[in-house]
Amino acid sequence: MIDRLSPPDRAKLMSAYHAMQFVEDEMRLGLGTGSTAAWLVKLLGAEKHVFGLEIQCVATSTQTQELAERVGLRMISLDQAGWLDLVIDGTDEFDPLLSLIKGGGGALLQEKIVATASDRMVVIADPSKEVDRLGAFPLPVEIVRFGSEVTKGLIEDKLAGFDVATRRTHWREKAGKRLITDEGHYILDLNLGEIRDVDTIASGLLEIPGVVETGLFLDIADTVVMGVASGEARLI
Ligand code: 5RP
Repeated sequence: MIDRLSPPDRAKLMSAYHAMQFVEDEMRLGLGTGSTAAWLVKLLGAEKHVFGLEIQCVATSTQTQELAERVGLRMISLDQAGWLDLVIDGTDEFDPLLSLIKGGGGALLQEKIVATASDRMVVIADPSKEVDRLGAFPLPVEIVRFGSEVTKGLIEDKLAGFDVATRRTHWREKAGKRLITDEGHYILDLNLGEIRDVDTIASGLLEIPGVVETGLFLDIADTVVMGVASGEARLI
C-alpha cells in the first residue's frame, strides 16, 4: 500500500509515523488538521484498535473531528480537556527557529488555540515545508465577516505593494464562494514573499480590529518531525 503513495505522501505518512513516539497512554492529545495530520489520526486509530492505546483527543477542525470519530478515537472538547499534554499538527512552512506558517487548511484559529493550550507542540512536516525564511507560502489571516472588505483594505494599506487574496472554497480559485471557517470567519491569503520581520507583521496585523488571528505561529512549536519518503525521519 505504501508503495502506491506518491513520494510527498509517503514523507507525510513517515512524519506522522515517527511522531507517534511522543504519544503516551492516558494523554490528552490535540489533533491537527490537513493531510499530514490525517495520517496521524489514522495511525492513532490503528494503535487504539491493535494495542488498546487509551487517549482522549481534541480536534482542531470539523474535518479532523469527523475522521477521528470514524477511526474510533475518544473525542472530547477543549473545554472538557481543560489543558492538553501534547498537540501534533502539520504546517505549511517552518524556519530554523521553528516559527511556522499555518492555515493552508483554513483551521489556523482552532489550531492556535489548541497549540496554546498544550504543554508541547510537535509539528509533522515533509521536507517541502522547510524554509530559511517564512513567506513563500501565502500567509493566511482569519478575519470577521462584518466589514470584511474594509478590513482587507486596511491590510492592503498596511502591506502596501503586496497582494491580498480572499480564500475561496476551492484553493486559489478566483470564482466561487468565499471559504467560511469553522468559526464563521473568512480567510485572506497574503502573498508576502520572504518575511523579514515576522513579529512586526504578526503584531501589525493583529492591531486591525477585524483581524481575528494570523497563521504565524511564533514561539509555539517545540519539535519538528520531518519524515522522508524512504522511511526515516529527522527531529529538529
Ligand atoms: C491547516 C494547516 C495544515 O497543518 C497545513 O496546511 C499543512 O497541511 P498538509 O499537512 O495537508 O500539507 O495549517 O490549517
